[in-house]
Amino acid sequence: MTRHLLDITDFTSDELVTMLQLAQRPGLPNVLDGQGVALIFEKPSNRTRHSMEMAVVHLGGHPVYTRGEEIGLDVRESVEDVTRVMAGYHALLAARVFQHDKVVRMAACSPVPVVNMLSDWSHPLQALADMLTMQQVHGSLDDRTVAFVGDWNNVSRSLAEICVILGVNVSLGCPVGYDCTQAELERLNSLGAGQVRQTARALDAVEGTIAVHTDTWTSMGQEAEKAERVKVFEGYGVDAAMMAAAAPGAGFYHCLPAYRGYEVMPEVIDGPQSHVIAQAHNRLHAARGALAFLMGVR
Ligand code: CP
Ligand code: NVA
Repeated sequence: MTRHLLDITDFTSDELVTMLQLAQRPGLPNVLDGQGVALIFEKPSNRTRHSMEMAVVHLGGHPVYTRGEEIGLDVRESVEDVTRVMAGYHALLAARVFQHDKVVRMAACSPVPVVNMLSDWSHPLQALADMLTMQQVHGSLDDRTVAFVGDWNNVSRSLAEICVILGVNVSLGCPVGYDCTQAELERLNSLGAGQVRQTARALDAVEGTIAVHTDTWTSMGQEAEKAERVKVFEGYGVDAAMMAAAAPGAGFYHCLPAYRGYEVMPEVIDGPQSHVIAQAHNRLHAARGALAFLMGVR
């Protein structure tokens, strides 16, 4: 059966552990030798494009980058026609889309694995790199709690999912109206051994946590809401006081791009507790592990 990486929840905890091990295993086989991988981007990207292109190269394959406007998913031709055609050229298809449903529709008709490179719903490749980095920095996360402060969005959702499935607790600090719904909190809490709690008080959310994550308050596609969001999120920027309230040795994490002075203060993201560059570099290793897994490496 063809496996797809649309969401972290597509995999069991054992499978996610295997992916994270593959991410760190030297000398993976050239499973993409002589084969192509389509990388379709409806939105801008630095980390995801470069890490995916190089992960494909590391596995012996050839990445083909295509801008969304060029193929026009559901504009020039249907998602299904694009997918069925491209699956004849490539061993894997990957897409960054505005609407999550587009990667779901790709997977529904694709004979080759489909990878979500960020949608409005989730960012699973980012979550794999986030977990890899936290494990490298802090060792075992058993009985630890990971905080996310800011917007409940694609990045925070995938991070919470991977934490819960791997038995790590999550503490969310999100403003009312931009937070995780009660129904979704229940969904998350049923995914695995980790427990998710939420408060609108950012300082309470980070208390005693081993890692403090945040993300932009205005995701790609939400630019028109920026002024309103900056008002709503006032007080949610991760600052030195928040890091001081976290556990001793706590790390700061951000998927990047970051907006200093908004969701994070310069003294935190550019300070000694920040792991954002290692986190960005781990996007390459996580992508290589995920692609190898989808190609059947164990
Ligand atoms: N974190 C992340 O996905 O970055 P890009 O948008 O630059 O790919
Ligand atoms: N939440 C952000 C993540 C960027 C990598 C966005 O969707 O724009």
